Amino acid sequence: MTKRLFIKTYGCQMNVYDSARMADLMLPLGYTPAASPDGADLVILNTCHIREKAAEKVFSELGMIRRLKQARERQGGRMLVAVAGCVAQAEGEEIQRRAPFVDIVFGPQTYHRLPEMVAQALDTAGGVLDTSFPAEAKFDYLPESPAAPGVSAFLTVQEGCDKFCTFCVVPYTRGAEYSRPAADVVAEARRLVMAGAREITLLGQNVNAYHGAAPADGEWGLGELILSLAHLPGLDRIRYTTSHPRDVDDSLIAAHRDVPQLMPFLHLPVQSGSNRVLAAMNRRHTAGQYKRTVERLRAARPDLALSSDFIVGYPGESDDDFRATLDLVAEIGFAQAFSFKYSPRPGTPAATAADPVPGPVKAERLAALQAVLQRQQRAFNESCAGHVLPVLFEKPGRHPGQLVGRSPYLQSVHAEAAPDRIGEIVPVMIRAVEPNSLAGAIAETAIAEGVHAA
Ligand code: SAH
Ligand code: SF4
Ligand code: F3S
Repeated sequence: MTKRLFIKTYGCQMNVYDSARMADLMLPLGYTPAASPDGADLVILNTCHIREKAAEKVFSELGMIRRLKQARERQGGRMLVAVAGCVAQAEGEEIQRRAPFVDIVFGPQTYHRLPEMVAQALDTAGGVLDTSFPAEAKFDYLPESPAAPGVSAFLTVQEGCDKFCTFCVVPYTRGAEYSRPAADVVAEARRLVMAGAREITLLGQNVNAYHGAAPADGEWGLGELILSLAHLPGLDRIRYTTSHPRDVDDSLIAAHRDVPQLMPFLHLPVQSGSNRVLAAMNRRHTAGQYKRTVERLRAARPDLALSSDFIVGYPGESDDDFRATLDLVAEIGFAQAFSFKYSPRPGTPAATAADPVPGPVKAERLAALQAVLQRQQRAFNESCAGHVLPVLFEKPGRHPGQLVGRSPYLQSVHAEAAPDRIGEIVPVMIRAVEPNSLAGAIAETAIAEGVHAA
C-alpha cells in the first residue's frame, strides 16, 4: 500500500541532503514523495536554527500543519507529523510542549532510526523524541539512494563542528566534527555519477576540516579527497561548501591549481574585517590571514571567484570595526555574498555578551554592506557579458524552450536550448546580466570559428 510523504526543508544544503536520505529510508516502507502536505501520511519539517527568524518559521508552519492533520482525522485518516533538523535538536522538548500534536521529534544525528520512530509513533499515542548523539555513525545505516540524483548532486562528507564560534549553534545542533571514510565517499560519488550526476558538491558544516580515513591507511584531507574524485570518469565538476579560512591547507590550494574539475568558485565565510570582532567571535583567524589565504588561492587559480558570509552588529562592534569590514570587502572583491544581522542564539556564548548593538544601527550597517556587496556582484556578472562560459544545463528554464544551468562561477545562466541538452556542458555566449541570473545563447558556432572561452 503506498503512503504519501511530504518533507519541507529549511536551512543549509546539508539539510537538503538529509531530507533526501530520509525519503530513501521511507521508500521501502511504501512512502512515496508528495508535493504538498495536504493528505500526506507523514509530514517532516527539516528545520534550521541558525538565526531566530529561521527557527520561528517552524512554529508558524506547524500551525498550518495542525489544521491539515485535524482535517485528515475528520476524514478517518491519520497524518504523522515529525520535526527534524537543528530546531528539533536544540528545542525538542519545547516543540513537544508548544505543539503537542507533533508525533516525532528527532535531531540530525538520529534520522537513520526514522523507520523505527515512525513504527513506534503509529503504535503509541505519546510523542517520540530522539535528540541523542548516538555512538554509531548514521551514514553506516543509510540505504543506497534509489532516487535519481539529478545533474548536480550533494554529498555530505563531513558533519558537525568543533570550532565553537561564539555566535553559532551548529556545534550544539550537529555535534562534534566527524569525517566519513574516503572509500565510502568515493563509492557514493561513483553511484551518483552512474545515476546521472555530472557535478557533485561535497558538503560539511566545516568541510575543509575533512580528515577521513584513507582507503589504505592514514588520513586524507579535503585536497586529497578531491584529487581522488577527479579520477571518476563522468564527474565533470566538483565543488565544496562550507569552508573555514583556518582549514585552507596546502593540499587544498594545490587542488585548486591542479584539478580542472574543481570549479573556480569558493564560499569562504569571513564574518568580519575587524580583528577585534574576529577575536571576540573566536574565529581563530585575523583579517590579514584571510587576505593572505585568498592571495594564495588566487595565485593557484587566478580566475577564482569568491563568496562569503558576513555578520554585522556583533556585540561590541564599533563604527571602526564595521569600517574594517567594508575595507576588507573593498580589498578582496566578492562575486557573491550573504550578510546577516547578528541574531542572539540561546545557549551560545555571545547571547549573553555585554554591549549589544542597537537594532537600527544593525539595520543601517547591513544596508551599507549589502549595497557594496551588490555592486561587486553586479560588476562581476557584467564582466562576464560578451564572454563564452561553459554552462552545465540542469533543468528547464522559466520560459518555454529555455534551459537553466550554472557557470563555473555558480552563476545561474539561462539560454534557449533543446531539452535533451540537460546534463551537458555547453558553451554559452553571455548576452545580458539580469538581477539574479545571466542570459545567453549557445555559442558552439562561435567556438568553432575560433572565439575563445572566457
Ligand atoms: N560553517 C560555516 C557557517 C555556517 S552558518 C562557517 O564556518 O562559516 C552560515 C552563516 O550564518 C554563517 O557563516 C554566519 O554568517 C551566519 N550566522 C551564523 N550564526 C549567526 C547568528 N547567530 N546571527 C547571524 N548570523 C549567523
Ligand atoms: Fe558555526 Fe562555522 Fe563557526 Fe562552526 S566554524 S561554529 S559552523 S560558524
Ligand atoms: Fe541551519 Fe542546522 Fe544547517 S542550523 S544552517 S540547518 S546546520
